[in-house]
Amino acid sequence: MSGEVETRAVSRDGSLAGKSALIVGGGTGIGLGVVDRFLSEGALVTVLDYSKDAIEALSERRDPALRAVLGDARDMAANISAVDQAIAAFSGIDTLVVCAGITDHFTSLADLPVESFDSAFREIFDINVKIALLATKAALPALRESEGTIVYTISNAGYLPGGGGPLYTASKFAVRGLVSQLSYELAPAIRVNAVAPGGTVTPLRGAEALGLDQQRLRDVPDIAEMIRAVNPLHVVPEPSDHAWAYLFLATKSRIAAVTGCVIRSDGGLDSRGLIPLDGAIGAGDM
Ligand SMILES: NC(=O)c1ccc[n+]([C@@H]2O[C@H](COP(=O)([O-])OP(=O)(O)OC[C@H]3O[C@@H](n4cnc5c(N)ncnc54)[C@H](O)[C@@H]3O)[C@@H](O)[C@H]2O)c1
Repeated sequence: MSGEVETRAVSRDGSLAGKSALIVGGGTGIGLGVVDRFLSEGALVTVLDYSKDAIEALSERRDPALRAVLGDARDMAANISAVDQAIAAFSGIDTLVVCAGITDHFTSLADLPVESFDSAFREIFDINVKIALLATKAALPALRESEGTIVYTISNAGYLPGGGGPLYTASKFAVRGLVSQLSYELAPAIRVNAVAPGGTVTPLRGAEALGLDQQRLRDVPDIAEMIRAVNPLHVVPEPSDHAWAYLFLATKSRIAAVTGCVIRSDGGLDSRGLIPLDGAIGAGDM
């Protein structure tokens, strides 16, 4: 649908050649990895993010295939504006990716301060869940027209305990709910899938309501080793590693029969089993 725009003259081939992608939360971390992968695959990318620094850095690239829109995606108006700008620049939207998110930095129920309970709940659910709904609502007419694809971001915390505290974990289970409901509601026109990354060293911030907004995941001491130690593949994934999963789920020609699915890009956290794989079990233990 977005085949005629002048920016396509930029010579790019790839799985998403000429496709228009809106990436909400594409300013840093995993979202930025998706932006770079999609651009390499020939996509025309619009990013909505509320980080001024990240939007400035993207704008400074002066890439005609990239539009960077500053805005808080918790507001419907910001989503509508980003959608309008994507359509104006690239003649439509073929895929929507939502990467915006924050964490509770593993704050347990016992440690959640009573006085900030409501505001922390609201902040985490507004960013981790409501943004997916608002962005989808805003992009819906364009996605219906293109018969496009949506890719949300879950987490290992959407499957297993201990990937966050109860607020983060509940918010990620909620996104699984959106994949289930919206893949059903929006079929047959739109395919709705998700990626569930595992631990990744990024500037993911904590909730302001918990006083954790200056605390970034990448600053947690020994975070890379902690991530490596718990997954069977012993990987410390980079955002670019997850980006391939987003690319696959965004590429309609490759997912003719795929909707309501989640790619778990977490080093195999579900494959840990009950006994070690290092040969520690002795003969006769079975
Ligand atoms: N880093 C991990 O270990 C990990 C693991 C599993 C899942 N995730 C999920 O991946 C997603 C991306 O996280 P990340 O680790 O790359 O962190 P990140 O902080 O680098 O990326 C999040 C992006 O969303 C933007 N954002 C946040 N709130 C926003 C808002 N209200 N409006 C507009 N933009 C907003 C941020 O500015 C940032 O650019 C999140 O949903 C996170 O929960 C991360």
